[in-house]
Amino acid sequence: MKTMRIHGIGIDIVDTARIEESIDRFGDRFIDRIFTAAEKAYCAPMSAAGRHYAARFAAKEAIAKALGTGIGADLAWTDMEILRNANGKPGANLTGAGKAFMDRNGIVEIQISLSHADNHAAANAIAIAYD
Ligand SMILES: CC(C)(COP(=O)(O)OP(=O)(O)OC[C@H]1O[C@@H](n2cnc3c(N)ncnc32)[C@H](O)[C@@H]1OP(=O)(O)O)[C@@H](O)C(=O)NCCC(=O)NCCS
Repeated sequence: MKTMRIHGIGIDIVDTARIEESIDRFGDRFIDRIFTAAEKAYCAPMSAAGRHYAARFAAKEAIAKALGTGIGADLAWTDMEILRNANGKPGANLTGAGKAFMDRNGIVEIQISLSHADNHAAANAIAIAYD
């Protein structure tokens, strides 16, 4: 019988102004390094786009902590895609090195939660494995 195991949890808080400054300074060079096309398509048209980008940035750092990899050889920024279901609930889909790390460690699912206010965005993540 398979047993569920929590591989790890992660949390992150982001200063929204720092993300906005990076977008103002580097534009698509910054956005495309960190975010996928689908994430950009969701965030860019928003009146407070920086908040939505900041929440997704926080989610990616929270996932990096939940996996325990940090962001690097085992997990690139664009290996993680933060999506929403029809009700607005966010989810994370991993590809590339991140998906390979999940497979090696029996991780089958990553659940996330996002929050943002005027100046900060926060996220947490939990990586669920089956042995
Ligand atoms: C793990 C990672 C996401 C931490 O992010 P951070 O913003 O540097 O740090 P935070 O202040 O949010 O969190 C720090 C805590 O993360 C935790 N942490 C560090 N490495 C971790 C890992 N591999 N797994 C889980 N948690 C980790 C530690 O508890 C640390 O607290 P401590 O130093 O007091 O022990 C970081 O290692 C990383 O890979 N960041 C990407 C940085 C980057 O590329 N920035 C460029 C932006 S364009």
